[in-house]
Amino acid sequence: MTRSRRTELDVNGTVVEVDARPGEPLLSVLRGGLGLRGAKEACGRGECGACTVLLDGVPVMSCVLMVEEAEHGRITTAEGLAEEHRELRRAFAEKGGFQCGFCTPGQIVRAGALLDEAAGLGDEELRAAMSGNICRCTGYTQIIDAIRQAAAHRETA
Ligand code: FES
Ligand code: FES
Repeated sequence: MTRSRRTELDVNGTVVEVDARPGEPLLSVLRGGLGLRGAKEACGRGECGACTVLLDGVPVMSCVLMVEEAEHGRITTAEGLAEEHRELRRAFAEKGGFQCGFCTPGQIVRAGALLDEAAGLGDEELRAAMSGNICRCTGYTQIIDAIRQAAAHRETA
């Protein structure tokens, strides 16, 4: 069995040490080793976006990213974005952007990364930008409406 090793990660602005096996998915380390349960495991193969986190500000699928690939970057999870993106959380609630909520942390992480440019995007562009995150419940319209509301709020804030 492959031995785990002590690994340093920069997560939500704090450098933490965690035991991780070589090749272990970042998602497993975040949820298991660090107890950060915002990123979800659904497909487990990089297709649904439920596990989305930011690596140096760029959305990545943490279920297919090896922990070694994240060692020298800044990782931001849904928990880390919670305060920064209050308006996005409120907009998802007000617009009905979630039902079961399983996809929601990943949706909010990806939406947060593009919020500054969202106001300048058309509906199709916004849908394309969010297309890496699958939702089985909402039909997406409410999610796009929520992102628009949050982007508009940011512009006037
Ligand atoms: S769980 Fe990672 S992309 Fe689906
Ligand atoms: S709200 Fe259920 S999967 Fe998106």
